[in-house]
Amino acid sequence: MASLQLSSLGSVFLFFLFCFFTTPSVSSSDVELILGKIKTSLKGNSENLLLSSWNSSVPLCQWRGLKWASSNGSPLRCDDISSPEWTNISLFRDPSLQLFSLQLPNADISGEIPREIGELSSLQSLYLSFNSLKGNVPLELGYSSSLSYVDLGGNSLNGSLPPSIWNLCDRLVSLWLHGNNLTGSVPEPAVPNSTCRNLQVLDLGKNKFSGEFPEFITLFHGLKELDLGNNLFTGSIPESLTELNLERLNLSYNNFSGVMPVFRESKFSAEIFEGNNPGLCGSPLGKCRGSSGLSSRAIAGIVIGLMAGSVVLASVLIGYLQGKKRKNRGGDGNEIEEEEEINGDEGKLILFQGGEHLTLDDVLNATGQVMEKTSYGTVYKAKLADGGTIALRLLREGSCKDRSSCLPVIRQLGRVRHENLVPLRAFYQGQRGEKLLIYDYLPNKSLHDLLHETRAGKPMLNWARRHKIALGIARGLACLHTGVEAPIIHGTVRSKNVLVDEFFVARLTEFGLDKLMVPAVADEIVAIAKTDGYKAPELQKMKKCNSRTDVYAFGILLLEILIGKKPGKNGRSGGFVDLPSMVKVAVLEETTMEVFDMELLKGIRSPMEDGLVQALKLAMGCCAPVASVRPSMDEVVKQLEENRPRNRSALYSPTETRSEIGTPF
Ligand SMILES: *[C@@H]1O[C@H](CO)[C@@H](O)[C@H](O)[C@H]1NC(C)=O
Ligand SMILES: *[C@@H]1O[C@H](CO)[C@@H](O)[C@H](O)[C@H]1NC(C)=O
Ligand SMILES: *[C@@H]1O[C@H](CO)[C@@H](O)[C@H](O)[C@H]1NC(C)=O
Ligand SMILES: *[C@@H]1O[C@H](CO)[C@@H](O)[C@H](O)[C@H]1NC(C)=O
Ligand SMILES: *[C@@H]1O[C@H](CO)[C@@H](O)[C@H](O)[C@H]1NC(C)=O
Ligand SMILES: *[C@@H]1O[C@H](CO)[C@@H](O)[C@H](O)[C@H]1NC(C)=O
Ligand SMILES: *[C@@H]1O[C@H](CO)[C@@H](O)[C@H](O)[C@H]1NC(C)=O
Repeated sequence: MASLQLSSLGSVFLFFLFCFFTTPSVSSSDVELILGKIKTSLKGNSENLLLSSWNSSVPLCQWRGLKWASSNGSPLRCDDISSPEWTNISLFRDPSLQLFSLQLPNADISGEIPREIGELSSLQSLYLSFNSLKGNVPLELGYSSSLSYVDLGGNSLNGSLPPSIWNLCDRLVSLWLHGNNLTGSVPEPAVPNSTCRNLQVLDLGKNKFSGEFPEFITLFHGLKELDLGNNLFTGSIPESLTELNLERLNLSYNNFSGVMPVFRESKFSAEIFEGNNPGLCGSPLGKCRGSSGLSSRAIAGIVIGLMAGSVVLASVLIGYLQGKKRKNRGGDGNEIEEEEEINGDEGKLILFQGGEHLTLDDVLNATGQVMEKTSYGTVYKAKLADGGTIALRLLREGSCKDRSSCLPVIRQLGRVRHENLVPLRAFYQGQRGEKLLIYDYLPNKSLHDLLHETRAGKPMLNWARRHKIALGIARGLACLHTGVEAPIIHGTVRSKNVLVDEFFVARLTEFGLDKLMVPAVADEIVAIAKTDGYKAPELQKMKKCNSRTDVYAFGILLLEILIGKKPGKNGRSGGFVDLPSMVKVAVLEETTMEVFDMELLKGIRSPMEDGLVQALKLAMGCCAPVASVRPSMDEVVKQLEENRPRNRSALYSPTETRSEIGTPF
């Protein structure tokens, strides 16, 4: 399944390449590319003896470092000096010859990696290690349709690794980038759960990669050698790494911390973990002492300085009540399992997975900034002393009065983990009943802003990107509805509650909170949903909200994504924008195509083959007035997966922004 997707993605790229990157005339033959752009790019400044053999007055077989094949795949007999090919001076004119190997290691080359490498349709191996190549690993390298062996180690390449590199996944056997100056985090493959099933060697050692351990690598089941040594990685080493059957591993000289996963047969020595954060512990390094430090620490309560009306830049005072330190955990605290609970006179703190490091010491006197006010309360961005940032959601008054009705809901929310849901890390309930939900802080824009704000520098939202966002939202909702033990209803599906990151991964916020509100407050939220146009017709009381009302709201949201118009009461004109009616009218008047947002139509050839029409139908199905005929979120996910845009290349260039600012759409 995954490989199928990948190969089709590959051809999409090739298609993209030929449409946009070559001159509109005929595409160049491999020989022309070698003699032209590739030679120029590699050469750098000084004349290079090996490269100067690439010359039409030299027989093709004597061009150094290159191996050719005829279009039927049989290699050109260049090994045999007595063969007629060896001296054939006109062979280079044969346009059907294809390059299948480019090997110039240690060849004193000082230029840049040519982008045109991606156009060599039969190139299988690219070895350019131990030269003085500069510049980036070009995005276009990922457009190649046959690269299996890539060795660019020992150069001076810098910049970040383009995510398109994983587009090579289904053929790639070995990727060696050891000893360059590559920075940034290791990008994730655009196709989730990629397995890169042929990949055996991945060497990113001795670079300047940063960020967390790239956990997606642990799905590359064929991997035998993995080197991430001598980089700037931080955070913990994932347990799933032990599921790979690695023969060689190097994680030394980074800043990994936490408890080491236990490898079967303990086949790795301490050497491959050395030079990391002193906090890295476990076999074969030293024993871990105590647990996360929380247990030994005195934790009291936090008080939220109650901030009045001002919306901008109010300050949250998360004070630390000294002299009232109290904690109440039995024993000396062993491992944190799913959650940890700390009781004190000042209140109660519950930590969930991923929030174990949150000590209230850290949050000591942290100042926050109001990010937004929502129907449920106020959201603050708060800086921790260690430089980290968290999002605090202070629930408004009128949230559940007694703890006993609140906690089961909170616990349930704290257990939900999904790529498309913002995780709840901790919960605090103060003595006076104030309730604080602690989430990861994501610096991302909301989908609402991306769609409706008209400011320069915003990413262009073409169909590939919008589809990815819609699918992410659908997956998040499907997880809430059916992926957890007891279903959770989101309750407030809307574009303002979707955060979108630079790779167009959507994450839902504010889910499940309606259950924390007293009925009167919850019903206010229904009224707001009505004004905003997301309310299902049958929904009168929040108590009645269910997965079908979520599906309705999702349908409106999908229409909003497709049409690019804000649903509901429109601030300026005061009129009510009814998106489903707009579509119905357009269909009746046979102007369906005009209903789509202009920006989304860019580059679309066939709205049918690109899944656009299907998406519109799906959205209308979700907005069906009769709840029972609406599809389930699982069905929505399935349909979106089956009708993907063909050209997904834009997903690999997150920085691409709107070209024409100021168009009315
Ligand atoms: C190719 O080789 C010939 C003869 O050795 C030389 O005169 C010519 O300048 C070379 N052409 C290029 C483009 O290097
Ligand atoms: C040299 O190669 C060309 C192109 O493949 C071919 O047409 C020609 O017959 C070859 N000449 C000799 C002497 O083999
Ligand atoms: C990496 O960059 C630094 C400074 O930018 C430079 O000193 C160093 O030589 C570079 N390393 C390599 C392998 O190119
Ligand atoms: C890469 O190195 C070049 C010098 O070789 C420098 O001009 C450029 O700014 C660097 N790029 C990045 C992203 O570090
Ligand atoms: C990826 O794997 C996770 C865990 O196995 C699963 O929950 C998720 O649905 C998968 N995603 C896709 C797109 O297959
Ligand atoms: C691991 O990587 C480090 C740093 O790149 C290197 O010094 C060391 O020799 C490597 N160890 C093994 C066992 O490969
Ligand atoms: C290493 O990680 C710790 C947190 O685990 C951080 O405080 C420290 O600054 C990091 N050091 C470097 C050199 O990045």
